[in-house]
Amino acid sequence: MSEIPQVVIADPDAVVREVSIGWTQSIGFDASGCASAEDLLAGLSRNPPDVLVLDTQLPGPPTTELLARVLQLQPGLPVIVTSAQGSVGAAVATIKHGAAEYFTKPFDGEELKVLLQTLAQRRRVGHAARPARAAAPPFSNGLVGVSAPMQGVFRLISKVARNRYPVLILGESGTGKEVVARAIHYTGPERDRPFIPVDCGALVPSLIESELFGHVKGAFTGAQANRTGLLEVAQDGTVFLDEIAELPLDLQIKLLRAIQEREIRPVGGSRRVRMEARIIAATNRDLSQAVADGSFRKDLYFRLNVISIKLPPLRERPDDIPELVEHFLGKFRSASQRKRFSDAALELLRSYDWPGNVRELENCIERTLALSSGPLMNIADLPSPLRRQGPIPPAADHGIRPMAVVEREAIEEALVKTRDDKILAAKKLGIGKTTLYRKLKEYRTPVGA
Ligand SMILES: Nc1ncnc2c1ncn2[C@@H]1O[C@H](COP(=O)(O)OP(=O)(O)OP(=O)(O)O)[C@@H](O)[C@H]1O
Ligand SMILES: [Mg+2]
Repeated sequence: MSEIPQVVIADPDAVVREVSIGWTQSIGFDASGCASAEDLLAGLSRNPPDVLVLDTQLPGPPTTELLARVLQLQPGLPVIVTSAQGSVGAAVATIKHGAAEYFTKPFDGEELKVLLQTLAQRRRVGHAARPARAAAPPFSNGLVGVSAPMQGVFRLISKVARNRYPVLILGESGTGKEVVARAIHYTGPERDRPFIPVDCGALVPSLIESELFGHVKGAFTGAQANRTGLLEVAQDGTVFLDEIAELPLDLQIKLLRAIQEREIRPVGGSRRVRMEARIIAATNRDLSQAVADGSFRKDLYFRLNVISIKLPPLRERPDDIPELVEHFLGKFRSASQRKRFSDAALELLRSYDWPGNVRELENCIERTLALSSGPLMNIADLPSPLRRQGPIPPAADHGIRPMAVVEREAIEEALVKTRDDKILAAKKLGIGKTTLYRKLKEYRTPVGA
């Protein structure tokens, strides 16, 4: 590796390429260019750079595919994806596929310079280290998740928090759409401005219109005074349009116009107000299906869908469950309580399919804490839907629990009560300590192994 960090600019536009190379050199890097995916891949193996700047319009395979091949050849190579203003969505998708950053043209030179320096530096210091993006961004917004899909979501949140494009959050009920919307707002530079949630499904259509856009005095019966709409109240904060699929068609047009023209027209008035608010929308419905059957406008869908964040159902990320359980125990347990779940109960919490997602898990923990008596919460303390679905059927019929389950729970409880004193626990249980050790060993062996 030479002393001066190497940057490759992969851009199909010869002028952009030349200007970028000149600029990159002027800030102290060694820069070269290439005009196609083929050139890029060939050059990468011969002469790996410290940073790659990759445009989404580069001739060849789709950017996400190309990125995968690049990272296969050069694992951990920091890649900055660039795109023209119109195709932010494509660039954002590349973050999920391992890009370090994306930038929309025209660039902010100062921001790009700092980024290039940081990435090149990090690449040099920790050549063997994991790519920069592998570090989870710090979250103080109460969002928990260690699974790969949630880590991807967190990266996307910190990325989109910095710009003002609309964001569409998709996911089943209870997957955390609202917490994600809040995290975007509260991670962004406008975090001290208002965050205003509006449930588009909860209000009658005529009311949503005046809620969102405001009205002038006398606009309709009952409009006794001017009212400022929430899109205006939010100033340059965020309006969170929950259940966006429920928005009536005529209001969809009005919303689209407001977003496009960045202008709000209160009902019954001729006054126009500039709209500064950022729009974040969410739904648990399949919006593309709603577009297909005509209940949602395609143009609004495209507008909102520039950046979309899809939250996976909890059953697809069981790795998050132990941490979520801890999080909710901490939330609901009083400081003096030392209650915890037995291993068997935790296993059941992990393997349940959670149709109500994180919300159901949260309710389950709160309820179990409230209703259980001992320090150790066992399978028997969990709500019945879990016990029915679990791998160990504790109350299969007539509320009868198999001996094996009762025994395991008794042992786990004894260990908690004796603070893990195995000799004392065995004595109190009336079994030999060798038997206790053997049983503990059995419990550590996964079922079926
Ligand atoms: N990753 C997470 N970490 C911590 N808490 C979470 C997480 N995801 C969801 N929750 C909690 O689960 C509950 C449900 O989340 P939220 O209200 O955001 O879901 P939703 O997707 O908006 O659901 P719905 O579609 O039913 O409105 C909330 O109490 C939230 O705090
Ligand atoms: Mg919600």
